[in-house]
Amino acid sequence: MGITYHEKERVFSIDTPNTSYLIGIVDAADPTDGSSADTGSKDTRARGNSSVCGGYVGHMYYGKRIRDVELPYLLRIDEPPYVPSVNQRDKLSFLDSFPMEYPTHGIGDFREDCMEVRTKAGHTALELSYVGYELQKGKPKLEGLPATFGTEEDCETLCLILEDRVLSLKVELYYSTFSDNDGIARSVRVINEGSEEIYLTKVLSACLDMDNKDFELLTLHGSWARERHIQRNPVGYGFQGVSSVRGESSHQHHPFLGLLTRGATQEEGEVYGLHFVYSGNFTGLVYRGQFDNIRAMMGINGSDFCWKLLPGEAFTAPEVILTYSAHGLGDMTRCYHDLYRNHLIRSRYKDRKRPILINNWEATYFDFTTEKLLDIAKEASKQGIEMLVMDDGWFGNRCDDNRALGDWFVNEDKLKGGLSYLVSEVNKLGMKFGIWFEPEMISPDSDLYRAHPDWAIAVPGREAGLCRCQYVLDLTRKEIVEYVWERLCNILESANIEYVKWDMNRQLADLGSIDLPADRMGELCHRYVLAVYELQERLVTKFPDLLLENCSGGGARFDPGMLYYSPQIWCSDDTDAIERLMIQEGTALIYPLSCMGAHVSDCPNHAVGRMTPFETRGYVALTGTFGYELDITKISEEDRNMIPKQVKMYHKFHMLISQGDYYRIASYADNHEWDCYMIVNKEKTEALLIYIQVLRQPNCHSRIFPCKGLSPDKKYEIFRYDMKNGEDTPFGSASLYGETLMNAGIRIESLWGDHQGMMLHFVEQ
Ligand code: DGJ
Repeated sequence: MGITYHEKERVFSIDTPNTSYLIGIVDAADPTDGSSADTGSKDTRARGNSSVCGGYVGHMYYGKRIRDVELPYLLRIDEPPYVPSVNQRDKLSFLDSFPMEYPTHGIGDFREDCMEVRTKAGHTALELSYVGYELQKGKPKLEGLPATFGTEEDCETLCLILEDRVLSLKVELYYSTFSDNDGIARSVRVINEGSEEIYLTKVLSACLDMDNKDFELLTLHGSWARERHIQRNPVGYGFQGVSSVRGESSHQHHPFLGLLTRGATQEEGEVYGLHFVYSGNFTGLVYRGQFDNIRAMMGINGSDFCWKLLPGEAFTAPEVILTYSAHGLGDMTRCYHDLYRNHLIRSRYKDRKRPILINNWEATYFDFTTEKLLDIAKEASKQGIEMLVMDDGWFGNRCDDNRALGDWFVNEDKLKGGLSYLVSEVNKLGMKFGIWFEPEMISPDSDLYRAHPDWAIAVPGREAGLCRCQYVLDLTRKEIVEYVWERLCNILESANIEYVKWDMNRQLADLGSIDLPADRMGELCHRYVLAVYELQERLVTKFPDLLLENCSGGGARFDPGMLYYSPQIWCSDDTDAIERLMIQEGTALIYPLSCMGAHVSDCPNHAVGRMTPFETRGYVALTGTFGYELDITKISEEDRNMIPKQVKMYHKFHMLISQGDYYRIASYADNHEWDCYMIVNKEKTEALLIYIQVLRQPNCHSRIFPCKGLSPDKKYEIFRYDMKNGEDTPFGSASLYGETLMNAGIRIESLWGDHQGMMLHFVEQ
């Protein structure tokens, strides 16, 4: 295991516990040498006019672990692309088919590329040749960016050094491996070693260039209140993919690409994953070319991006996490879950139980006072809820969403006695207190905007468009970041605040900053994201015990970048248990359950008007962070009485859910009837099965289906969690071996009615 350079073969092998990734260095040919025209020779040199080029870096292999490295045939450099052909292979036809590790623009590789530049003279060609490499223990930090981390004991990093000799532009390709995980973290650093500025117009972070294996492309698409639904399509010729130019990772597309061999299931088929650790504009592209090759790429979206790199300066592109599974989607999921839990999330809460919170958003919206919040808190504390979160509406004259963003001063008409009184009263109830912020925004109707109309992102002379009646603060400007920071600290230091929900409710448009010169305007979106990262880094450093939850109009900035700062992210503004099945299935495909913000809310549901049993809502929220979002003083007695049982359920099962392995059994999105998944602890001594029957069929049989993830040789007692008394009660008569449960299956009777749920608990006997 580990990273090795095989000097004789000129091959780098990057081995993880179960995968190998091979990179081959291929010399460019001497143009005067015609001898390499033979086909089938072992000559590893390309032919053609390549006098400026020292060596191409080729992608040889990524897949199941292999031992051999002398595999020049994988790069096909001795194959003519055209038959018949006079010169057999010249430079352009070579470049147009060679599996490039990091393809560049303008030199004859006409497929989609990873990197584009513009010189002072206006030229765009970029040709990278291999210079050398560095291997180090551990993983260097990416300056100003979120990234996976590891120690010198559990992590290793390869840096391939490439350069364009004409431009004196150095490009470093980074690959990090983790001894306990199959993920590979890739990133790119560009250094201008020349004497003139260079404009980077595109710097993607990773590329996978390989043969098409009859791939399907899996992406996560959505909208507000409908985030991260799974979509699969065959990969056709040309381009397909996902992207965002909204300034955030977005509700609409997720920065993830899955390439699956056709028909791959949870257990079978090959699956490649690319996931971008970034929270702004992105592109994730798959290109199927003329020779049935596939190029998958991911990185910062080139639209509205142009970074001026002065001599001596460096630019770091965020990282992409690559995964490969030879055993279907399930192994990919568990690989990402473990990687993010162990090497991305940093919060003190990451391995700790989170306080069960009650949020007043769906309970009161903007219409609340200290008295109302304390009524909710009093009732909540009686039922075992541990934290009150005060959502939007506590500052300035924020009586609705048309005003006051930026005026981060407590509205003492609403909150009589101020924040310190409210928080101390909540603390007296034995509860923690949390608060909502939307630090990146400014309302036109705010004191802040009246004082600083130029603080909003806008194009001079053009009326900026509103969204949710607000503008975005120009966080590329230092003084604005400092204002936001001062306000955040002031509020957080004014009372015992133990949780912050950081919201962001609109996208970026009308891109203009009065501080950026014309040739740096294309830096705005990335600089904005860097500023958000800087603010959140300062926040978690200054308040290390704070529980931070990111949010963006629901789940528009649910991405690995945000996960580096907050151990949980609000999944969606749709809290309906049935809609959540699809949202949470898509989210859990990549993200650990411990980071999916999920609450039990009131019915009829505020997003869809649906009625679902309180019990079912509890099971669905339990497999996220778990909390409540309702007016506990107004819900029915019956529902309220169930809360202590759900609280007990949470305490009993949360650590298993947040740290266990996730197995998907059935998907309501696929079958339109039922949803089912299991969570098994690492020792395989305990497991949970969540079963949601969305639609009841008339005149139907029970369902028998196989369990997953258990140990075949362990015998399990099975219990059903009885929500009426909050206890495990025996389910079925016998205890069974895991092999029986996973092969013969388990039987679940049809439940009476729609939207019913149940939970089974397996305990090793
Ligand atoms: C969007 C969030 O997703 C909601 O939970 C709530 O906090 C509102 N914003 C408040 O404006």
